Amino acid sequence: MIILGIETSCDETGVALLEDGKIVVDKIYSQKVHSKFGGVVPEIASREHIQKLLPMTKEILKESHIAVGGIDAVAVTYGPGLLCSLLVGLNFAKGLSYALDIPFIGVNHLEAHIYSPFITTQEFIPPFLSLLASGGHTQIIKVNEFGDYEVLGSTLDDACGEAFDKVSKLIGLGYPGGPEIERWAKEGNPDAFDFPIPEPGGLDFSYSGLKTSVLYTYQKLIPEERIYKIADIAASFQKIAIESLIIKLKRAMNQTGIHCVSVSGGVSANSLLRKRLEELDANWVVPEQEFTMDNSVMVAFLGYKLYKLGKKAEFTLRADPRLSL
Ligand code: KG4
Ligand code: ZN
Repeated sequence: MIILGIETSCDETGVALLEDGKIVVDKIYSQKVHSKFGGVVPEIASREHIQKLLPMTKEILKESHIAVGGIDAVAVTYGPGLLCSLLVGLNFAKGLSYALDIPFIGVNHLEAHIYSPFITTQEFIPPFLSLLASGGHTQIIKVNEFGDYEVLGSTLDDACGEAFDKVSKLIGLGYPGGPEIERWAKEGNPDAFDFPIPEPGGLDFSYSGLKTSVLYTYQKLIPEERIYKIADIAASFQKIAIESLIIKLKRAMNQTGIHCVSVSGGVSANSLLRKRLEELDANWVVPEQEFTMDNSVMVAFLGYKLYKLGKKAEFTLRADPRLSL
């Protein structure tokens, strides 16, 4: 069974072909154009998706030697994300589904992240916990069974990845901020600055206070320090941002008694987070690096699971920028 997965929820255009749940070929185009603006410009993102989606789909069909008529179903992200970006992928999928007379499957981007570690590793049998830390979300989710989710905690303000992006911009580094901060942090002293660990209580997260604390510290530095202390700021910020994820994860494990944890989303690429996970008394999984950030393989992978359960979408399915679990 061949499924085509499409991801256009933000600034990555992704297409993938999976055969019986296994990757045949996939392509991702990360829109570099946004870096000069320090964040994603929605209008530009959707135009880039329009330009890339059809040629990329043709390319993966050619590379895989699969004829367009050989596709059995098409899975696509319908939310959450940027409305105009979502619409590009969703309408493309609907068109293909109609023309080829094959089912199309609407995929929740958050749910796709949850299962992304299992693209290449043995899947946990529920219940398990999922820490989803990306540019738009920071949540701890209890997966009771496939399709049955309990959000135990969420961010009250910025998402963890968003905090990396904002701090990166503040100290003059590039976008996306996560990889930039991580790279600079390697050269810095994580104890150089004493930023506060956010503690909004329970299993919720908060990153705006930490971000503001970095801002005030940075503003007090003299111009020379703003240059030679970049690595120390990056390392000190990263330490606290990651620590707050670990603290909440430990708390969720204690509260639920569940020690199987799937960690996903862009922040799961972070090597300090992975190191701190190793120290936990948990059976944990993270995605392969290439599946941490937004990608189409996770969409096709979840789409295949839904397809097997007969969960096909109607053409009336609408893009939902605020879709939750
Ligand atoms: O999952 P993702 O690609 O997109 C959303 O669904 O939001 O996550 C992107 C986010 C960005 O905010 C980026 O800065 C962050 O993930 N990120 C990282 C790292 N790589 C990406 N954050 C911390 N450390 C990293 N190595
Ligand atoms: Zn994502």
